[in-house]
Amino acid sequence: MKGLILSGGLGTRLRPITHTSNKHLIPLANKPMIYYPIETLKNAGITDIGIIVGHTEEKIREVKDAIGDGSKFGIKITYIEQDAPRGLAHAVKVARGFLVNDNADKKFIVHLGDNILKGGIKKYVDTFKNGDLDAMILLKDVPNPQRFGVAEIKDGKIIRLIEKPITSPNNLALVGIYFFNEAIFNEIDKLKPSWRNEYEITEAIQGLLDDGSKVDYRIIDAEWWKDPGDAEGILEANTLLLDEIISSNKGKIEEGADIQGKVSIGDGTIVKKGATIKGPTIIGSNCIIGGNSVIGPYASIGDQTVVENAWIERSIVIGEAKIDCETKITDSVIGRKVNIVPSDKTKSSRLIVGEHSFIAL
Ligand code: G1P
Repeated sequence: MKGLILSGGLGTRLRPITHTSNKHLIPLANKPMIYYPIETLKNAGITDIGIIVGHTEEKIREVKDAIGDGSKFGIKITYIEQDAPRGLAHAVKVARGFLVNDNADKKFIVHLGDNILKGGIKKYVDTFKNGDLDAMILLKDVPNPQRFGVAEIKDGKIIRLIEKPITSPNNLALVGIYFFNEAIFNEIDKLKPSWRNEYEITEAIQGLLDDGSKVDYRIIDAEWWKDPGDAEGILEANTLLLDEIISSNKGKIEEGADIQGKVSIGDGTIVKKGATIKGPTIIGSNCIIGGNSVIGPYASIGDQTVVENAWIERSIVIGEAKIDCETKITDSVIGRKVNIVPSDKTKSSRLIVGEHSFIAL
């Protein structure tokens, strides 16, 4: 079985970070978001994986640079370009030649590049691989079904799928991991753009149901599933992933620095005397954490970041940033090469920030 990971999309709710960077490369626990679906597929035995990339040359290059040919994961990666973000079904259609071009079993799995699931999907892959279904979807109970595609179930059967229902029949959201055979392509060919001007994969699966194809579902028992679409979403995912980290130290912790709980510190990083690191927290390589600083809990600090005189809690610092501000920073996402310096707070604050930035002073 082949796999397809979708990493197109504009990530508008994650601006300004996504003005310059692909959403799927935003680091969670210091690893690009898209590495998690790659690992999920690999751990389920899927090693021939296509990645849909778009829509500017910079963003395509950035994804290719971050992932390479797949050898560092022990898999084979094929990149497939989508000209514009026209929806999930369109992305699957673009990959048709890759997915069903040879004598492979013509069954495949589509994994959205921003969906992260704790616990893996091997048992679902095995069920689909060994069965005779045309499609299988995964569902999870969520408190806010209006944000997702939802499946209406009756007597153990899927009756109807609704994308972003205004009033939802239940709380069973479609997880962004789908199992298909080539029957899905006929349904995609019949689609018209939806109200959000996208070709919806949810409508293509509804087409399979309408045509009497065999579509089944599993309600997943994973402890958590996240599709981090906005800043709070990526902070939540980061928090959940940091709960899983293992303590390690490849840097230098000076005597008199205080390390509490599970903390991972990268190569060449210096934690100076007087600094406090509260786990769970991860600090990348070649960082300097100054003496009058507190990092964590739930902070991910990217490579080559310098922190002095600041407390950074439940935040993501992507990397190469300088933060020296005598302030506690919480629930924040700080982009690459950002410089935060102290101001005379009795007078004024000074800001040079890009479009779509958010600042709480
Ligand atoms: C997409 C699908 C939706 C699904 C969700 C899972 O939504 O359209 O059915 O529940 O992914 O992450 P989108 O992220 O495009 O809003």
